[in-house]
Amino acid sequence: MPSFSSGASPQKQQHNARRKQLIRQQRKSLPIASVEKRLVEEVRKNGTLIVVGETGSGKTTQLPQFLYDAGFCQDGKVIGITQPRRVAAVTVAKRVAEECNDQLGRKVGYSIRFDDSTSNATRIKYMTDGLLLREALLDPLLSKYSVIVVDEAHERTVHTDVLLGLLKKVQHSRSLCSDKIGETLSDRQDSQSLSMKACQGIKFAPLKLIIMSASLDAKCFSDYFGGAKAVHIQGRQYPVDTLYTYQPESDYLDATLVTIFQIHLEEGPGDILAFLTGQEEIESLERLIQERARQLPQNSSKLWITPIYSSLPSEQQMNAFKPAPSVARKVVLATNIAETSVTIPGIKYVIDPGMVKARAYNPVTGMESLIIIPVSKAQALQRSGRAGREGPGKCFRLFQECEFDKLAESTVPEIKRCNLSNVVLQLKALGIDDIIGFDFMEKPSRTSILKSLEQLILLGALTDDYKLSDPVGKQMARLPLDPMYSKALIVSSEFKCLEEMLIVVSMLSVESIFFTPREKLEEARAARKSFESSEGDHITLVNVFRAAAECLEKSKNANAKEKTMEKALNRWCWENFINYRSLRHARDVHSQIQGHVQQMGLSLSSCGDDMVLFRRCLTAAFFLNAAMRQPDGSFRALATGQSVQMHPSSVLFRTKPDCVIFNELVRTTQNYIKNLTRIDPLWLAELASQYYATED
Ligand code: CDP
Ligand code: MG
Repeated sequence: MPSFSSGASPQKQQHNARRKQLIRQQRKSLPIASVEKRLVEEVRKNGTLIVVGETGSGKTTQLPQFLYDAGFCQDGKVIGITQPRRVAAVTVAKRVAEECNDQLGRKVGYSIRFDDSTSNATRIKYMTDGLLLREALLDPLLSKYSVIVVDEAHERTVHTDVLLGLLKKVQHSRSLCSDKIGETLSDRQDSQSLSMKACQGIKFAPLKLIIMSASLDAKCFSDYFGGAKAVHIQGRQYPVDTLYTYQPESDYLDATLVTIFQIHLEEGPGDILAFLTGQEEIESLERLIQERARQLPQNSSKLWITPIYSSLPSEQQMNAFKPAPSVARKVVLATNIAETSVTIPGIKYVIDPGMVKARAYNPVTGMESLIIIPVSKAQALQRSGRAGREGPGKCFRLFQECEFDKLAESTVPEIKRCNLSNVVLQLKALGIDDIIGFDFMEKPSRTSILKSLEQLILLGALTDDYKLSDPVGKQMARLPLDPMYSKALIVSSEFKCLEEMLIVVSMLSVESIFFTPREKLEEARAARKSFESSEGDHITLVNVFRAAAECLEKSKNANAKEKTMEKALNRWCWENFINYRSLRHARDVHSQIQGHVQQMGLSLSSCGDDMVLFRRCLTAAFFLNAAMRQPDGSFRALATGQSVQMHPSSVLFRTKPDCVIFNELVRTTQNYIKNLTRIDPLWLAELASQYYATED
């Protein structure tokens, strides 16, 4: 037989062969490997199956491959696996593609908002739960899927909860389409089945559902799916020594920093995983560690820091999964993504400050905010478990033992603490009109649903009799954005400043564009001055985006290659105290939404220098978030009557105009409003008369 060369050097080939061998061994040694046959059998026998297994037992990466091998993708059908988090969908798809010895985007792919890596050949598709909900808009019976796996169901994100309700309906409809095909479906008075017309006489194979969860509480899922069978996979867990602080820690970031160095200097080999609440914290801790590491004695071993959070570009996310260079200890700074969604090899030490960033919602005022709150017991246990995956480990909880006892048992499902406008809009677009009667696993409060309906009417997405409006509501449902942002794009096309609004919405979709290191506060402020607009933060963001585009344009004109252009942009960001990672993400988001609005036929025009027009447009779009200055310098949110403070990061912080619109409410010690623009209060009555009608 002739031998072929793959073009790779002999060393590379050897390396690849060794890696393949290693992966084969790893796969074989996973707890799930020994129950492959049984799992496949159970999926064959049951329409819905609950699979519970300790994090790292191989559920996410292996089960879809088992099903593929067992023939569940015959006739070109696809196995879909949903994840609550973008990062998990991407990293797991990459890993599984490698395990299948195939390029990502062929047999194995992923699809997340603003980033699709699938093709017609894709049979194992990882995606976010939100994305599958959007797919249902175009294909109500999810006809290309033979199996849908809802992963990380214990997280109970709002999308997971809605998806579970929807999948129950789809499964029901598909079974009707498969065995009752002789009947005229329209004769059935079955309000539960989804748009029966969707069958159109075509026979559909039933849809298999698998609900996967890391926590032991399978009963609630089983009950919801009519007593569905649950399979438990025996995990492998080494003992973890849990330590608490003697005193309460007032600054958990500082305590994390100290603990990292304590472990590094006093404990044996093994990587560290620290749980933080978001990008900003992770980045600031990353810098603090680097600074302090410089003071370590010359001969001490190094620290290799790898952050991992949702908006981090995916090549950088993958670093966390690599082994540290031989002379260094890996320190992974993660959000709660590393709790159960992804398994990072090498971890022996876990640092848990016990905090998490979560959505909070006041159904009476209709205001959603982000807050940093204590984790639940279930979360703290998951976190400590990460230290005992490969051998005995240690978990450092940065709070006192008596505090642990006070934690809530489990996290409240997100559907009970978020603004439901997006959910309601999506359900309406799916033809589900009776939102209050929808079969939620856990019903959100009636007040919450009513408030969202009211908001959607105010935004023009629903008519007064709660029907999806045409074209505005339909257009809004099609955009993968919060309804208020979708509305802003539609309004801006009427105001002829869609270009500017597109930038604003993209920049607001990412975390912290500006980066303000503590040690260079003044320099950072001076750099920001060149972008600042006295009108407010929105126009400032537009200025940053455009300056970055100009920088890229310049290197393009100098015929630079793409890599060189990116380097130039990175350097420009560094010099201007702009967060390169966030800006890159915002540019990606921008090009994706631009594609959407063009498809929708909205006209892409710019208001040029007419900033009054743009501010009026912002007012028309975000009128629900207006605030008036009070005599004491604080502000009052008009829609809710809440007292709020201007966030010090705003360019308007010093001038404090009379009236502003804002985009974000953050609750720390106070209620802070962020991303502000100065407006004329009279515009509210003029441009949002449906809400601010003045009484004669
Ligand atoms: O879903 P579950 O938590 O049960 O496990 P998994 O995500 O399927 O991970 C199984 C194993 O695959 C982990 O223990 C990791 O060692 C490995 N893995 C990896 O090395 N790189 C990834 N990106 C994902 C998983
Ligand atoms: Mg998993």
